Amino acid sequence: MIDRKSKIPISDDLRKKLIEVASHARQWAYAPYSHYLVGAALLTESGKIYDGVNIENAAYPTTICAERVAIFKAVSEGEKDLSAIAVVTKNGGAPCGSCRQVMAEFNLEMKVIIADEEGHIVQETTLDHLLPGAFTPRDLK
Ligand code: THU
Repeated sequence: MIDRKSKIPISDDLRKKLIEVASHARQWAYAPYSHYLVGAALLTESGKIYDGVNIENAAYPTTICAERVAIFKAVSEGEKDLSAIAVVTKNGGAPCGSCRQVMAEFNLEMKVIIADEEGHIVQETTLDHLLPGAFTPRDLK
């Protein structure tokens, strides 16, 4: 497990809770094509947790990832301060580049916890390590 300390502290209980919520959500993943079920649990600064799952589409590129569903749910409810996200898959797969870019819009220092279906943490890091040199809103100023 790679562990890079985040500036945002997160308790063991909260880490466990995020992994549980992401794991639980996997049952709602709509993945009839890849059969790769992804669950995400996003913690906002206010303490709320938003879950998300991947939603595939017969027109394959229209598919959306679990992480983005969770983030869009939060942002569409007025929550833009993102603290941490847990992503759970069968084998502990990492967030894709598009999801990393969407995360970078809101907080490059957010914690990213990647776990497998047994709840084992494969990687715990921060977004700036997953997306070095990111293009962010600052670049448009
Ligand atoms: N997927 C996610 O939900 N998140 C990622 O970061 C990587 C990929 C989904 C998209 C698709 O439904 C399936 O996993 C296989 O690519």
